[in-house]
Amino acid sequence: MALIELQDVSKLYGFGDATTLALDEVNLTIEKGEFVAVMGPSGCGKSTLMNIIGLLDRPSHGKYRLQAKSVETLRPNQSAKLRRDTIGFIFQSYNLVPRLNVLDNVALPLMYKGVNVTNRIKQASAMLERVGIQEREYFMPNQLSGGQLQCAAIARALINNPKLIVADEPTGNLDSESSRLVMELLADIHKNGNTVIFVTHNPELTRYATRVVYMHDGSIIHDEKTVIGRVASTAKKVAEKSLTSDEEHLLAGVSTMMKTFPTKDSESKTKSRKKPLKGKKKS
Ligand SMILES: Nc1ncnc2c1ncn2[C@@H]1O[C@H](COP(=O)(O)OP(=O)(O)OP(=O)(O)O)[C@@H](O)[C@H]1O
Ligand SMILES: [Mg+2]
Repeated sequence: MALIELQDVSKLYGFGDATTLALDEVNLTIEKGEFVAVMGPSGCGKSTLMNIIGLLDRPSHGKYRLQAKSVETLRPNQSAKLRRDTIGFIFQSYNLVPRLNVLDNVALPLMYKGVNVTNRIKQASAMLERVGIQEREYFMPNQLSGGQLQCAAIARALINNPKLIVADEPTGNLDSESSRLVMELLADIHKNGNTVIFVTHNPELTRYATRVVYMHDGSIIHDEKTVIGRVASTAKKVAEKSLTSDEEHLLAGVSTMMKTFPTKDSESKTKSRKKPLKGKKKS
């Protein structure tokens, strides 16, 4: 049984002339235990895909089955419960609550679950030890480095013991040493039998993955299985620009992305891309 099954999933934003087709009939199956890197230029739909997989957003068209359950049929509270119990999120901007210390941030999901305060603190502290920043548990988020903040965010994502980790550019704001640390933590989570999906602009980080999915203009244009410890062959070719003309054409967007390493705030992100809707009903 696949953990994730997307069938002809499209996502439209806006309406009328300002409609953006962020995902265009995406088909993607991810098995339990995969470690998937998602790559592609700014605005190609990576975050939209992560948000749909992570039940933060719904497809406009198409089917999504998570653990063989059709997500479309879930009521909002059922969807929220499934998300809380199954998925851990990691964002580029950490998303910690600034007025809570690190320990309380990590313990927060347990509060929503109704765990008593003693157990919350105990579990959160153990999780901070696991990610290597227990000595910072009473620090406020603004007293931590980017790498430490991301470790705290990972601890919070793991506190409910989720089967699936969805990480949208987890190393996007980090230097190379902190990026390595964060990726080692994700690799650890993967080794424990969990499924990890992460977005990256950095071809080097495909070393951690077992599979790399390349996106362009809302579609998956290439999907390759990879060997842990090696940079994915397509990512490497794109970085070295040693593509054949066919590959060059196919991966033109990915190639552009790797030259620029854009961030979330990059200008192209805010531009609305308009595409013909292939006769589909707008929603
Ligand atoms: N809430 C929204 N309303 C309207 N358009 C949106 C919204 N969110 C995303 N978009 C548009 O959908 C497209 C895909 O955006 P998305 O954020 O998924 O791209 P991305 O691949 O994650 O980019 P980046 O690498 O910059 O993070 C873009 O054209 C974007 O402008
Ligand atoms: Mg994004």
